[in-house]
Amino acid sequence: MDSVTHSESGLPIQRLYDGWALTAFDADVKLGAPGKFPFTRGVYPSMYTGRPWTMRQYAGFGTAKESNERYHELVNAGTGGLSVAFDLPTQMGYDSDEAVAQGEVGKVGVAIDSIEDMRALFQGLPLDQVSTSMTINAPASTLLLLYQLVAAEQGIQGDQLTGTVQNDVLKEYIARGTYIFPPKQSLRLISDTFAYCHQELPRWNTISISGYHMAEAGATPAQEIAFTLANAKEYVRAAIAAGLDVDDFAPRLSFFFVARTTLLEEIAKFRAARRIWARIMREEFGAKNPKSQMLRFHTQTAGVQLTAQQPEVNLVRVALQGLGAVLGGTQSLHTNSYDEAIALPTQKAARLALRTQQVLAYETDVTKTVDPFAGSYVMESMTDDLEAAALDLVQAVEDRGGAVAAIEQGFQKSEIEKSAYRIALEIDGRERTVVGVNKYVLNEEEPYEPLRVDPQIENDQCERLAALRRERDNDAVKRALDSLRSAAQGADNVLPPMREALRLRATVGEVSHALRDVWGIYVPHDSV
Ligand code: 3HC
Repeated sequence: MDSVTHSESGLPIQRLYDGWALTAFDADVKLGAPGKFPFTRGVYPSMYTGRPWTMRQYAGFGTAKESNERYHELVNAGTGGLSVAFDLPTQMGYDSDEAVAQGEVGKVGVAIDSIEDMRALFQGLPLDQVSTSMTINAPASTLLLLYQLVAAEQGIQGDQLTGTVQNDVLKEYIARGTYIFPPKQSLRLISDTFAYCHQELPRWNTISISGYHMAEAGATPAQEIAFTLANAKEYVRAAIAAGLDVDDFAPRLSFFFVARTTLLEEIAKFRAARRIWARIMREEFGAKNPKSQMLRFHTQTAGVQLTAQQPEVNLVRVALQGLGAVLGGTQSLHTNSYDEAIALPTQKAARLALRTQQVLAYETDVTKTVDPFAGSYVMESMTDDLEAAALDLVQAVEDRGGAVAAIEQGFQKSEIEKSAYRIALEIDGRERTVVGVNKYVLNEEEPYEPLRVDPQIENDQCERLAALRRERDNDAVKRALDSLRSAAQGADNVLPPMREALRLRATVGEVSHALRDVWGIYVPHDSV
């Protein structure tokens, strides 16, 4: 039996819980009915008895055409929503033909340089019937506008579009690293996006405030929700400071968390996060619309817990992690493919990942009742304990001046690094069992044939870009980019001039460079 008798958050796990009793106070005030403040039991009254969570498999690689084919496969296999992975040049606001992009074009996601690529990416997909998530942060507004422009070409209006852009740059400074501009300018661009969507894309989720990547970097569950909610408070403050009314933008904030194999603590984590956020929004920011107080979130199973050794064992891990997310009340779920610790998922592995969700949704009984663990001694105690631990950490960030100030002091990053180091020591010391890695190891791994990305992609993408630059009206593009620079220098919303430049076939890199010219780039505090 593992010697670790504490949760992932370092909180004691009692052998027997018998000290928690559900009183009327607990039922009404601490838990609330499902769909009622503080939403501990879930954000909707009926939860999955009304509608299952969205099965939303993250996918994207190579060219827009190849990714489009994978999206059609996923829609045909029953996925409920699309989730776009972009390659690093796109995520960093560079074009495929820039020197810095070499070797990365189409590698960890799809290469999108212009409206032409975006058109190819969604070719034949009904954008008024499917919700699309885009994992894009610093240039989120650029990709969102390209999506809106392509939808408009299909005759689809802004108020018909549903989906999400991740658009959460603060966590990029802490973990993951796909930031461009300094924090102040990033918060301005994010607030401009909130304001633009409130007017033009009212059903669009403007941000997916993420704990996932901090968790993957080593954050404990308590750190994951605390640093995420502290980032969320910074976004709310910035939007209010930009003159927006909290109930105008808060209903379209969304969140994104991990689901670890330690599913009891994960269920408690999601329940605690909902309760904390509901209270922050109503009591600190005066939000009156219940939708402003609801923490709606997407979950992805823990990539960092996948093993390259005996990869089929990951099917079991992902099923348990997915079960935890569902028992925790997620609105949308991505289940990892069992082979992702080795390479990009094969089509069969991606289909198995989706089938895992379908078994959870249609063969188990966990969708037949809301928040099944409510009232459980262990679950309510763990939820209380995690809530207290997370609130202490939110306060620690606030005491340092809020998320941006704490980031500039390196606080969140160093706390996460300490957790990651502790976990590594526990694995190396065999205090923490990882099946197939430090216990139950095979002497010889069985053969596996990974998916390979065609190296020709980069050349094809660069040829398409050269043709685009030859064929478009370059004078008009130049004028549009100058207008964007002027807006960035002033206080006007930068999205309308950005949309016009993109419509004229300005590229993702050109738009991002125009903003770099005015706003500069972020230089991490520990790199000077
Ligand atoms: N009763 C009543 N209404 C219900 C309901 C119920 N039981 N269930 C759902 N609904 C309604 C909702 O109100 C909503 O209607 P609305 O849009 O008019 O409000 C509609 O049905 C859709 O439901 P949800 O909004 O709950 O579900 P979605 O799937 O549309 O949205 C989300 C979920 C979390 C709010 C959204 O932000 C989302 O989809 N996020 C996904 C983010 C994502 O995929 N990220 C991928 C990251 S991968 C990454 O970062 C890279 C890698 O490194 C990890």
